[in-house]
Amino acid sequence: MIRIAYSNIMKDLIGINGLTEDDLKAVNIKNVQDMILKRSYSELAFLDLPAQDISEIKKMGEYARQFENFILLGIGGSALGPRSIVEALSPFHNYLRKPRVFIYDNVDPLTLQRILEIADLRKSLINVISKSGSTAETLASFMILWQKFRDLGLSPKNHMIITTDPHKGNLRKIAEDFNLKSLPIPLEVVGRYSVLSSVGLLTAEVIGVDCKEMLEGARDMGQRCLNFEVNENPGLLIASALYQLYNLKNFNITVMLPYSDRLKSFSEWFCQLWAESLCKEGKGLTPYPSLGTTDQHSQLQAWMEGPKAYVVIFISIDDYGTDVEIPYVFEEMEGLNYLSGHTLAKLITIEQEATEIALSNNSKPSITIHLPRIDSYYLGQLFHLFSIATAIGGFLFGVNPFNQPGVEEGKDLTYGMLGKRGYEKKKEEFIKYRSNKNRFMI
Ligand code: PA5
Repeated sequence: MIRIAYSNIMKDLIGINGLTEDDLKAVNIKNVQDMILKRSYSELAFLDLPAQDISEIKKMGEYARQFENFILLGIGGSALGPRSIVEALSPFHNYLRKPRVFIYDNVDPLTLQRILEIADLRKSLINVISKSGSTAETLASFMILWQKFRDLGLSPKNHMIITTDPHKGNLRKIAEDFNLKSLPIPLEVVGRYSVLSSVGLLTAEVIGVDCKEMLEGARDMGQRCLNFEVNENPGLLIASALYQLYNLKNFNITVMLPYSDRLKSFSEWFCQLWAESLCKEGKGLTPYPSLGTTDQHSQLQAWMEGPKAYVVIFISIDDYGTDVEIPYVFEEMEGLNYLSGHTLAKLITIEQEATEIALSNNSKPSITIHLPRIDSYYLGQLFHLFSIATAIGGFLFGVNPFNQPGVEEGKDLTYGMLGKRGYEKKKEEFIKYRSNKNRFMI
């Protein structure tokens, strides 16, 4: 199982900035227990994902694997999970295997142009993912590709899988009207909590990963998180630690720092989940994606000596699955010969621990997640662990972890400016803003 070392948040080890056992136990665990067991939010339905029926996802995966290219259109919770899965479980995928996977989220026109230069649409399957079926970025790219298929005289029916709400929304309607292949995202599962639904699992199947293993990992983590002792339940521990460091010690940034290139996108997935769920009403720890050892040569300075703000979550990998020995060359050079005979896995692991110690010596809190190895089972555990910790965090911070009111305003202004009916006032606001902005410009 994943193990979590939390000595480096404790007063005994890091002194003044640390917590006591009583601080950790002071969170209202009884209420967290009620929230989980009585499902006080219907959106806690993500807890049931490990037990879902995956037969339809497997069938679609088999269909998709016949293509040369798999192009995923989606953004936020509809893209970051699939991207983390590909990066973690099939690094350098597009250089090595087919279908090649392209995840198009950011509507940068050049990115789409390049994808279409590389991927022949005749040999491509498009997976359009949007829970709401109305996200501007995803729907815009969907419309563009729809037209491109028509221009090529190809039926979108053979080239598209729609992943959306089971009953409602524009995409569900289009899927029904045009008899397109489709997968449902369970009704009450919110975008950023949906990685273990059809949203992430189809991509997993496409790259040849058995999504059943990922769900087994999530199921086992879910079981561990049903024990409501703070030092027995990994989700409760992470949520309580971060909450109390914020609440009692004024830390307000959390750094996700995995020591593997394969978890770089996982960091981004976590940051979206945490930020959209918990940074609300002027509260919360801002999440921050990082990478070890790379950021030891950049951000570490801020964590050590910048403002007292950062709680670092290390992810340390026990077994990299491969290793490379550093050879005995330049033996006469004092500055280099200490490296010879060690391995890269040893170097990266020692550097991770050294950073942990350095932070601890400087009274800076950190938690270390020990991941036995990066495979689908443990990735399932990680996804579920942080989804549960975030949901519990919502309860501790006293915010709804399933809404995102802060992102609506910008969306409404965009709708207004693009001419969506019902948003005329927003258009006026937009135009007024532009004229004000131009007053102070050099
Ligand atoms: O977590 C969320 O709800 C959001 O990040 C969504 O995933 C994102 O806005 C995309 O929404 P949709 O899947 O409805 O297109």
